[in-house]
Amino acid sequence: MVWNAGVYLTYADERTRPAVELLARVHHDNPVRVIDLGCGPGNSTAVLAARWPHAHLEALDSSPSMLEQARKSGVRAHWIEADLTSWSPAVEYDVIFCNAALQWLGDHRGLIPRLASFVEPGGTFAFQVPHNMEAPSHALMRQAAAAGLWAAKLRNVREVAVLQPSDYFDILQSVRAQIDVWETEYLHVLDGEDAVYEWVSGTGLRPFVQALDGSEREAFIADYKSRLRKAYPRRLDGTTLFPFKRLFAVARF
Ligand SMILES: C[S@@+](CC[C@H](N)C(=O)[O-])C[C@H]1O[C@@H](n2cnc3c(N)ncnc32)[C@H](O)[C@@H]1O
Repeated sequence: MVWNAGVYLTYADERTRPAVELLARVHHDNPVRVIDLGCGPGNSTAVLAARWPHAHLEALDSSPSMLEQARKSGVRAHWIEADLTSWSPAVEYDVIFCNAALQWLGDHRGLIPRLASFVEPGGTFAFQVPHNMEAPSHALMRQAAAAGLWAAKLRNVREVAVLQPSDYFDILQSVRAQIDVWETEYLHVLDGEDAVYEWVSGTGLRPFVQALDGSEREAFIADYKSRLRKAYPRRLDGTTLFPFKRLFAVARF
């Protein structure tokens, strides 16, 4: 799946705020080894670098275009191109941090214990995933995908996979962590035309759009945009309010 770092960073503040709020619940003064999984263009890595300037900081992503942008960010980190589904580090980490990436991988019941096993005793695994699959932005994506001549091509597009907060609690309890799980619903205030479309086009919409070409892709986008305009009307001041729920988990070992 191809990522566009520029489109993703259109809402850099909104996308980075959860990383800051997740990190606020990670209580380590001087971790030696820290890694940012699914670092994207390096926005979450920058937050880690500022908090622990003396740590050995690594940042991993499977997308060459995201890593290219990350390297240009000037953030002091060791950038690693790797796929988390098969990643198996030779060392353990004091902090494994993952903001807004695990939702792209399936099988969280297997994945999370595996990633947690790479944490040093006394260390922390902290992650955040969007938890808004039932919001109109995603429900309408599925409805638009099923509604047109393109339906057959979009039937098997894999959506992001997120469990319930109590599921993450159970998974982390099974690996004997001290657990802190919570949710936050942000009320994003977006500017411009088709602002919610612009937001999701940088993330959740990409697998749908990338499965179509040419006029079919354009028709699908037009259909989806018109549904979004009704669900998220633009306000008199030109802004659009976009409620967005996210799930956070911090596990200390
Ligand atoms: C939504 S971005 C998050 C970027 C950044 N961490 C942030 O806080 O905004 C998700 C990132 O996860 C990466 N990703 C998705 N699947 C992955 C995988 N299997 N292995 C490694 N990285 C993956 C994508 O390439 C993308 O850069």
